[in-house]
Amino acid sequence: MTKRALTGIKPTGEPHLGNWLGAIQPALELAKEHETFYFIADYHALTSVHTAEEMRRHVRSIAAAYLAFGLDPEKSFFYRQSDIPEIFELSWILSCFTPKGFMNRAHAYKDLVAKNLAEKHDPDDGVNMGLFGYPVLMSADILMFNADVVPVGADQKQHVEFARDIAERFNKNYGETVFHLPEPRISDHVKTVVGLDGRKMSKSYDNTIPLFSDEKALLKRINQIVTNSQAPEEPKEPDQSHIFALHRLLLSGSEEKDLRAKYQAGGMGWGMAKKLFFECLNEKLKGPRTEYNRLLAEEGHIEAVLAKGKGRSRAEAGKLLAKVRELVGIQ
Ligand code: TRP
Repeated sequence: MTKRALTGIKPTGEPHLGNWLGAIQPALELAKEHETFYFIADYHALTSVHTAEEMRRHVRSIAAAYLAFGLDPEKSFFYRQSDIPEIFELSWILSCFTPKGFMNRAHAYKDLVAKNLAEKHDPDDGVNMGLFGYPVLMSADILMFNADVVPVGADQKQHVEFARDIAERFNKNYGETVFHLPEPRISDHVKTVVGLDGRKMSKSYDNTIPLFSDEKALLKRINQIVTNSQAPEEPKEPDQSHIFALHRLLLSGSEEKDLRAKYQAGGMGWGMAKKLFFECLNEKLKGPRTEYNRLLAEEGHIEAVLAKGKGRSRAEAGKLLAKVRELVGIQ
């Protein structure tokens, strides 16, 4: 049987290069060999996005981004989490099988508590129950469609392991294999997409390269990549350059080799290295950028795509939820 791959995208900001190389591209790649489920995790975003206008804008832009990079909504399941109430119902049921101790150990929660303690604040400052229960909702996302493979960033691996654990507890309690046990799949790129300053590319560090800004703004941003002060004629060490670290992600093996040689030969200044990276990236983004703008400009289009995805996905989710309800003895 074809395996199922599923991933959620949290709509919390404008899509950037790290999202594309680290999440969008590897996720879409899986559609070649899997039955695929892609969804916009708006309920997860609600743990931190607390203005309606911002939520709507991010949901639209992330949906348009996936479509622009080639998601085929006829082939894949593509939906908005909050459109599928079955997920939310399953989330409660699963929470009744989730030891609270698990949630205490969840990275996002633990990190926040540690930060509070370090700053001598109340340990639960800024922790809402949505954030605390986040991994349970994520388990429901995954188990609702019996996903086998879950492509995620390394920071989400623990959450997929929670989903496995919760599924096992449930299966064991009722003596039936209702839920498949999902496997996390971490893409190699995720670890290596650096931002302008060499730290991981992330909205929270303000070091991102946006995917859909116009050419001028893109070039301006690329010109902000931090370099050392070597003169143009000096040979450069590619593995110490953030420009190279980003540029190589767009290249084939032999193209990467050529570029490496160019850095090492000397005679290429940082301005030129940036220009080459810009040209390469811009070429790849041209098509998706036009498509992205077209999708967003077309009144009601994105909503229509999501409405269709909702119908298909609810039908699928309904089947499993009926089974779960029967097993637990509700209705
Ligand atoms: N928590 C994930 C993130 O922050 C998004 C997400 C929500 C997700 N539900 C999911 C990812 C289910 C994979 C599967 O990136």
